[in-house]
Amino acid sequence: MPIADVSGHSLQQLISLENRVAVVTGAAQGLGRAIANRLAEAGASVLIGDLKIEQAERAAEEIASRYGARVVATRLDVTDSDSIVAAAVLAVSELGRLDIWVNNAGLYPNVGLFDMSDELWDNVMAVNLRGVYRGSREAAQRMIDAGHGGVIINIVSTAGFNGVAPGVSAYVTSKHGVRGMVKQMAMELAPHDIRVLGVAPTFCETEGNMAALDALPERVRSEIAATLTSMLGRVGVPDDIARAVLFCASDMSMFMTGSTLLVDAGETC
Ligand SMILES: NC(=O)c1ccc[n+]([C@@H]2O[C@H](COP(=O)([O-])OP(=O)(O)OC[C@H]3O[C@@H](n4cnc5c(N)ncnc54)[C@H](O)[C@@H]3O)[C@@H](O)[C@H]2O)c1
Repeated sequence: MPIADVSGHSLQQLISLENRVAVVTGAAQGLGRAIANRLAEAGASVLIGDLKIEQAERAAEEIASRYGARVVATRLDVTDSDSIVAAAVLAVSELGRLDIWVNNAGLYPNVGLFDMSDELWDNVMAVNLRGVYRGSREAAQRMIDAGHGGVIINIVSTAGFNGVAPGVSAYVTSKHGVRGMVKQMAMELAPHDIRVLGVAPTFCETEGNMAALDALPERVRSEIAATLTSMLGRVGVPDDIARAVLFCASDMSMFMTGSTLLVDAGETC
């Protein structure tokens, strides 16, 4: 079956996520929370999955009351396949179906090449790469079983396009891998009406990023801070990325799959 031609739909219909259900991983804070917020505003019911269950529950309550949306939180560890399966099952049992899965949970430790332990390397890969693979596979299986299509969105990074700075070799490797996964999964899932897209942010102010910066020595921190303002004159904020994810999740992007959208304020141009 060819993907639907939505050119006769109004702008309001195209951006609406009414009657759709989304899962967003790592959505207790940062980019994930902003993404959950915009998807709910567009009409989706949303499952927020995160290791930080209390923070996830507070986020779910706040978003639900702001938009009158159905938003539930669950403890999710994307390194644990059973936990991923449980989240997918919960989305269907609590919210009715599964249409959109956003692989957002990610780690970005700053550890130099010669100080990186095997354990830390494996942990970055388990969250950033295998977690995305397992989440995508589980979501796709549910969509196929239910006999409808869907959208899988992976949060990549400009670090999926270029080397960034000393200290992030595991992160850069994992994000290049995720960008490759977007291309390959798009091919495998297109026959099932499932689109797979990446969104690649530049630096945005989030709780995780601010904590990572704070942990650096003052000299390094001020060197990095001096490079952060983009050619658009400010640093990115989570909603800059959430709006791009909403575009990908909605029928606005109906003829797109396999590509990764750079949201980088011109960083890579
Ligand atoms: N903030 C940026 O500048 C930026 C830029 C490019 C890409 N990204 C990517 O965006 C994503 C989110 O980044 P952020 O800055 O919002 O991060 P953040 O650290 O602020 O939030 C990440 C969330 O993921 C959760 N998480 C971590 N490990 C998990 C696991 N195993 N299972 C489930 N949840 C887990 C954390 O508890 C946290 O709530 C990451 O994939 C990151 O690589 C961020």
